[in-house]
Amino acid sequence: MNYKLRQEKVLNLMAPNTIFCLFNKRLNEDAKKYDCNRNFFYLTGIAEFDDILLFVKNKNESFVKLYIHEIDPKQERWTGPTIRSNEATTISSIKNIGLINNFYNDLANYINYDTSIYLLENLDESKDYSYEDYFKRTISKKYPNIIFLEGNNILKKLRTIKDEDEANLIRKANIITNYGLNAILDNLKPGLKEYQIESYFDQAIKFNGATGYSFPTIAASGINSTCLHYSTNTATLEDNDIILFDLGASYETYCADISRTYPINGKFTDKQRQIYEIVLNGQKLIEKTAKPGLTTKDLNNILIQYYIPHLKKIGLIKKNDEIFKYYFHAVSHHLGMDCHDFCEYNKLEAGAIISNEPGLYIPEWKIGVRIEDDLYITKDGNINLSEGIIKEVKDIEDYMAKRNN
Ligand code: GLY
Ligand code: MN
Ligand code: MN
Repeated sequence: MNYKLRQEKVLNLMAPNTIFCLFNKRLNEDAKKYDCNRNFFYLTGIAEFDDILLFVKNKNESFVKLYIHEIDPKQERWTGPTIRSNEATTISSIKNIGLINNFYNDLANYINYDTSIYLLENLDESKDYSYEDYFKRTISKKYPNIIFLEGNNILKKLRTIKDEDEANLIRKANIITNYGLNAILDNLKPGLKEYQIESYFDQAIKFNGATGYSFPTIAASGINSTCLHYSTNTATLEDNDIILFDLGASYETYCADISRTYPINGKFTDKQRQIYEIVLNGQKLIEKTAKPGLTTKDLNNILIQYYIPHLKKIGLIKKNDEIFKYYFHAVSHHLGMDCHDFCEYNKLEAGAIISNEPGLYIPEWKIGVRIEDDLYITKDGNINLSEGIIKEVKDIEDYMAKRNN
């Protein structure tokens, strides 16, 4: 990854006489390496907790500095070595490395009478308190007139456009996810609990190098498949029902986001197949259509216009707006280091990575189908990063028929 280029872009986007501080605070006691502040990692390639990234853009100087832990041999016996300055430079390209303990003293040297400070704000709306709040209070006491600016838009702008390296990490996350889905298909049968079939996915992705999950797995069988965010995963799989999986492995913070819908006993019923094919063809239409210049909202409207005549034809709806009884989410969102990524939602540009996830949910038939792939938008179309994860009815049924168990 070209972290230096990303850092330069931040400096370019900052207004004159500003400072930008990013804190990689631990989210909770059990946080793992990649549970880090994604924006901090995006700009440094470093996930170490408590490190601080500082950008300064003053009249006569413009630079970036990274603050890391002082070496503490006693602490390292408990938690392992912290990053060394030469390592930090090699990874992040930042030559200017300081110690966390010196950060506030240093900062005082860079604040002038007219300096404003960018912070990332409200990243986790579930929390009513963040380190940024503490920082603001501390700094405001010393500099009552200082102005704080929201830095979110700067990071959103950068993270909306992915480079080849990022697309390859999502491709890798998709390959790992595919191992998990094949393990599911190898073992799917009536009588299991949803959490039992989920466990095959867990084992296979970990075995194949996943560094985490993109989000908690949805394994929704029968009527549960018609509930969008079902996540209890405790029901028993019934013969002749389908099961909808929405899941993803992540790899070095980059997320796969995949949905697949399978027949529990290996064969779709006629009704299930009929709905499945409508959704699958809708997905193919969106894949054929997605390109720069359109918004994700445009794609959703195209899907809705496609659905209406098809659902009328099979007698499921009579009037156009009845479509929303059976389809009520969006077909696309940006995807990246976060499953719902920290991005701008303007017209798509080359480099965006988006989901393609049409669905139909019909509780009266116990049929919920969602099929989701990840698309990398290119100059004149897109590349499917989920290629190879089977989804044709014939491929799924053939795969299940050839199993040994
Ligand atoms: N798994 C969440 C989504 O598909 O958007
Ligand atoms: Mn999904
Ligand atoms: Mn999605």
